[in-house]
Amino acid sequence: MSEQREEDTVRYKIENNIAWVYFNRPDKRNCQSPKLNRQMMRVLTELEFRDDVGVLVLSGEGTAWSAGMDLKEYFRESEAEGFHAVRRSQREAYAWWERLRWYEKSTIAMVNGWCFGGAYGPLFACDLAFCSDDAQFGLSEVNWGILPGGGATKVAVDLMPLRAAMYHAMMGENLTGPQAAQYNLVNESVPADQLHARVKEVAEKLVQKNWKTLKYTKDSVRRVKEMTYDNAEDYLIRMQEGLNWADKSDGRHVAMKQFLDDKTFKPGLGHYDKTKTEK
Ligand code: ACO
Repeated sequence: MSEQREEDTVRYKIENNIAWVYFNRPDKRNCQSPKLNRQMMRVLTELEFRDDVGVLVLSGEGTAWSAGMDLKEYFRESEAEGFHAVRRSQREAYAWWERLRWYEKSTIAMVNGWCFGGAYGPLFACDLAFCSDDAQFGLSEVNWGILPGGGATKVAVDLMPLRAAMYHAMMGENLTGPQAAQYNLVNESVPADQLHARVKEVAEKLVQKNWKTLKYTKDSVRRVKEMTYDNAEDYLIRMQEGLNWADKSDGRHVAMKQFLDDKTFKPGLGHYDKTKTEK
């Protein structure tokens, strides 16, 4: 087979304000090569501020979500080239995971299959995660003589109970989809034939909400995790004031009118109609 072009390592389509982005190296189980990492950053950059994209879903072509880092191109070939290439490859990978972690739009990992090691970076970076029951999750690093780097250890410890994270990192055994949900690696595990529909349902709900509110909400959730209560309380006041400025639609006043005056919606039971802008 001829070598895959860099621009083909990721594919995407946009439908009804949802960007469906796919790791596209199915023959290599979507493992992350330097080429894929560079292309993913390009795609994320292209999609992030588009007015027609409100939610980004990250999934994989074929049987894998992502089989982690590419042992040949990311590890062996970078190491052969020298220290500078090792650091360059790491930066290319970590950079797009970081971009995704603080992405302007809401993000969902749709884990359709294998998810190993270096795939925990983007898994954690996505705001929400859904998987198929037959997906498999593994910190397989210990199986080939390295530790779970690139943030993978941190992801396991942040998301899982400590004993479970320790067992997961030390044993190199895989978790099924339902086990990944039980240990908080994903929000939900569903039968494979329902995965796309479930993710679409969630994405469509998110699309209808105020996108700026979602951005400030998700960033707040990530930031306050490492703050004291008092720092978080203060930070959240500043974030709300920031949102008041950033939301040029002034959504909260539009919503207040729809609830208090027009009585067209109840905040406890659903979202306001953001297509109506009257305050
Ligand atoms: N790095 C490099 N190549 C890979 C990787 C990877 N992480 N994963 C799969 N491939 C390649 C295989 O070498 C094979 O290439 P080839 O067709 O040129 O021989 C091709 O993808 C298909 O892989 P198979 O092993 O034949 O696929 P199978 O479906 O039987 O197994 C599985 C899938 C279980 C994912 C297996 O490929 C595997 O164990 N991959 C490695 C998973 C892993 O441990 N990743 C690293 C985690 S640690 C980290 O990311 C830092």
